[in-house]
Amino acid sequence: PWVRCLGKERTLAMIKPDGVSGNYTEEIKRIVVEAGFNIVKERLTQLDKETASAFYDEHSSRSFFPHLVSYMTSGPVVVMVLEKRDAVSDWRGLIGPTDAQKAKISHPHSIRALCGKDSQRNCVHGSDSTPSAEREIKFFFKDLVSGDIASPQHDEL
Ligand code: TYD
Ligand code: MG
Repeated sequence: PWVRCLGKERTLAMIKPDGVSGNYTEEIKRIVVEAGFNIVKERLTQLDKETASAFYDEHSSRSFFPHLVSYMTSGPVVVMVLEKRDAVSDWRGLIGPTDAQKAKISHPHSIRALCGKDSQRNCVHGSDSTPSAEREIKFFFKDLVSGDIASPQHDEL
């Protein structure tokens, strides 16, 4: 018998209001699973102004911030904790660039190309780094301990 070390990592994914209202939830979850992610946690929720503002606090001084908050509070969202090796960068790769218009040209198979509209209504969120993933997972799932994140699991195969 031999042991292989699988360094699994977690990231936060969100299907934004236009993704949920456009009925993309099941298709996106199918893409997630087919790409090898394990959906560790999932939550359908409605963001209020305070929650959306706090989540996107790093952008609070940007001119688009008020529009971003009103968009993010315009309907329910699905937040998920995704797990796989290199989850953070692989999920960012799968969703594509921020501007869905550009995604349709440069990354036509990305999720933002599939269901996004433009640089604001871009259908999905993904943590941009492992520290962001840790903060964002805690933000939505307080019962998941930070030590779980990016800690290697040793599976015997
Ligand atoms: P950002 O963190 O730059 O993009 P990403 O979601 O790819 O990490 O921006 C956060 C969100 O802010 C983005 O998903 C949509 C919104 N946004 C705008 O509405 N207008 C903009 O010009 C930018 C850059 C972002
Ligand atoms: Mg970002």
